[in-house]
Amino acid sequence: MFRKEMFSLAGRTGIVTGGGQGLGRAFCRAYAEMGANVVVAEINPETGAEAAGELRALGVESLFVRTDVTRREDLEAAVEAALGLAGRVDFLHNNAGITLWKEAELVPGDDWRRVWDVNLNSVFLGCQAVFPVMKRQGKGSIVNTASMSARIVNVPQRQASYNASKAGVLHLTRSLAVEWAGYGIRVNCISPGYMNGPMAGRFFDDPEIGPIWRGMTPMRRPGEPEELCGAAVLLASDASSFTTGADFAIDGGFTCV
Ligand SMILES: NC(=O)c1ccc[n+]([C@@H]2O[C@H](COP(=O)([O-])OP(=O)(O)OC[C@H]3O[C@@H](n4cnc5c(N)ncnc54)[C@H](O)[C@@H]3O)[C@@H](O)[C@H]2O)c1
Repeated sequence: MFRKEMFSLAGRTGIVTGGGQGLGRAFCRAYAEMGANVVVAEINPETGAEAAGELRALGVESLFVRTDVTRREDLEAAVEAALGLAGRVDFLHNNAGITLWKEAELVPGDDWRRVWDVNLNSVFLGCQAVFPVMKRQGKGSIVNTASMSARIVNVPQRQASYNASKAGVLHLTRSLAVEWAGYGIRVNCISPGYMNGPMAGRFFDDPEIGPIWRGMTPMRRPGEPEELCGAAVLLASDASSFTTGADFAIDGGFTCV
């Protein structure tokens, strides 16, 4: 029987990477608002600590763990911190990401690898780090922040490294969903369109880029980070208990046209 409590995260414990600002900060707030304890796994010590303090003020437990998502040992430390809070890890949201705007033919190999390390390899490492815990629990939800760029090629900016890394996140999500379904571990992703925030918001006012992005988005505006959070809560909670391998496009209709 359907019950509204299925959306609750009360007493649950999760980890959000890149939780210090932007979309990750909004996800952290939403999970805490729904009752979850949250480990903020963030590379920036100022924003990470600030985010954890903000969540504690909401009445849940929260820790900042300085985490470079490209480093396996940092992600394992974030998992240990979550276990220290409550002895379990109910959800992991792999969210940290970076962009690189440069013509493909000019992208140095190290920059290409950096984008893939932060955006894609980190997701794999995070999933591996939390797997033994979720397997032991017989239950867990992994939410990955992919992007509409997993399916479309953005213009006018050139960002092949980003697009390809996000396509990787989407298919890694599906692959792990299939491999780990038998362990009770669900793996899904959220694919935002252009969002208001430090990464993309300011370009909506750019005289060259703004009209193109607006014109290609049926809702004619960027999304607000909070507009992603209903999906995040759904995917992290028991309300989506039969959902795995799904990609939740939240892009103002961008990928429909
Ligand atoms: N903003 C958008 O329009 C948009 C659209 C689609 C997808 N996304 C994706 O959403 C996610 C969040 O984007 P955002 O807009 O909030 O970006 P943002 O730059 O505002 O925030 C990213 C956060 O990740 C952290 N971070 C960066 N490198 C890290 C590392 N190596 N280890 C740990 N943390 C690290 C940053 O310090 C920052 O707090 C990214 O994966 C991004 O690709 C964003």
